[in-house]
Amino acid sequence: MKRIRMAIIGAGIWGENHARIYQAHPFCEVVALCDLNLKKAQDSAARLGVHNVFDSCERMLQAVDCDAVAIVTPDFAHTEPALCAASHKKHILIEKPIATTKDDIIRIMNAVRENGVRAMVDLHNRWSPPFNRAKVAIDQGELGEIYSGYFRLNDVKWVATDMLPWAAKSSILWFLGSHSIDTLNWLFNSRVKRVYSVSREGILKGKGVDTVDEYLTTLEYENGCIAQMENGWITPNANPCVNDIKCNLLGTKGMIAIDASNHNLIQMYTDEKVVVPDVLVQNHIFGAPKGFAFESIRSFVDCLITGDDFHVSLEAAAQASFVVLAILQSAQHRTPVEVNYHGVC
Ligand SMILES: NC(=O)c1ccc[n+]([C@@H]2O[C@H](COP(=O)([O-])OP(=O)(O)OC[C@H]3O[C@@H](n4cnc5c(N)ncnc54)[C@H](O)[C@@H]3O)[C@@H](O)[C@H]2O)c1
Repeated sequence: MKRIRMAIIGAGIWGENHARIYQAHPFCEVVALCDLNLKKAQDSAARLGVHNVFDSCERMLQAVDCDAVAIVTPDFAHTEPALCAASHKKHILIEKPIATTKDDIIRIMNAVRENGVRAMVDLHNRWSPPFNRAKVAIDQGELGEIYSGYFRLNDVKWVATDMLPWAAKSSILWFLGSHSIDTLNWLFNSRVKRVYSVSREGILKGKGVDTVDEYLTTLEYENGCIAQMENGWITPNANPCVNDIKCNLLGTKGMIAIDASNHNLIQMYTDEKVVVPDVLVQNHIFGAPKGFAFESIRSFVDCLITGDDFHVSLEAAAQASFVVLAILQSAQHRTPVEVNYHGVC
């Protein structure tokens, strides 16, 4: 069977995870690694056993033959690598969000279409077992007609203060809100029509990270569904899980309640702390990467091999980013904002 040759742009925390997933796939290999910071790429390549290392996407794609490119650069730096990969006729997996401006989203979508390549954005919550089961229940009518939802998806402070050196140049809405919106759109099988969001800031700014702490957002859907969404980067660090995930989905005949962070599968107690080990999102079993955050990346490779449609379309990813843009505007002006999909989806 054909092997998929992957090149990776961005040798950070998540780029290295991508590499390990491709390397663990029986029909995939990593042929090159690229990072603006060459030393970082070289160190990462040495850990991974990758031989071709570059500090420019253009030079990498001129020098190395590959089938697809994974873009694992910071949230605000997906566009130039995506345009570069498309111009070299490479299929593309883009970390979420697709991009953070309307112009960039349109440029990426046009480049993908004009170059005849395939592209997916890694909106992995669709692979999360409880959310995937909820989707099956909703589509099979087990809840009757889907009516409304509540979705909290927060991170502990540490993600903004320590994990992401570029948190101030992004937003919890790009980092996690894009997952929330894509999940709700997918579950409701509709697009957001209007948003109203309020936000609060000060805690992270006080710690030297110039970004908003939390957004509380009301979403109105084209099919009548309504939802409340909470995205914050200020959950106390002692929270047993990095994420705080709660979701309620109400239909005319039933309800689903998801608590994906306090899943009760396993708790660990010591004299110092309580930990809920992450066995669902990012896990390793006998050394192999398991968990739904890895499953979505593996699925991209699988779909390149089989030719099947990706489970996240580029249009769906663009819709999620357009909603984030509307929320940012709404929170800034403290007023409801209609989502403008004009020119894209
Ligand atoms: N799906 C998930 O579960 C998940 C988890 C974490 C991060 N992410 C996403 O992955 C992306 C990367 O996050 P991270 O935590 O690995 O960040 P990171 O800061 O650890 O790594 C990003 C790397 O990209 C490099 N870079 C920046 N611009 C570049 C360019 N133009 N060309 C080449 N390299 C460039 C930086 O030097 C850095 O080494 C983000 O979009 C983030 O939202 C996804």
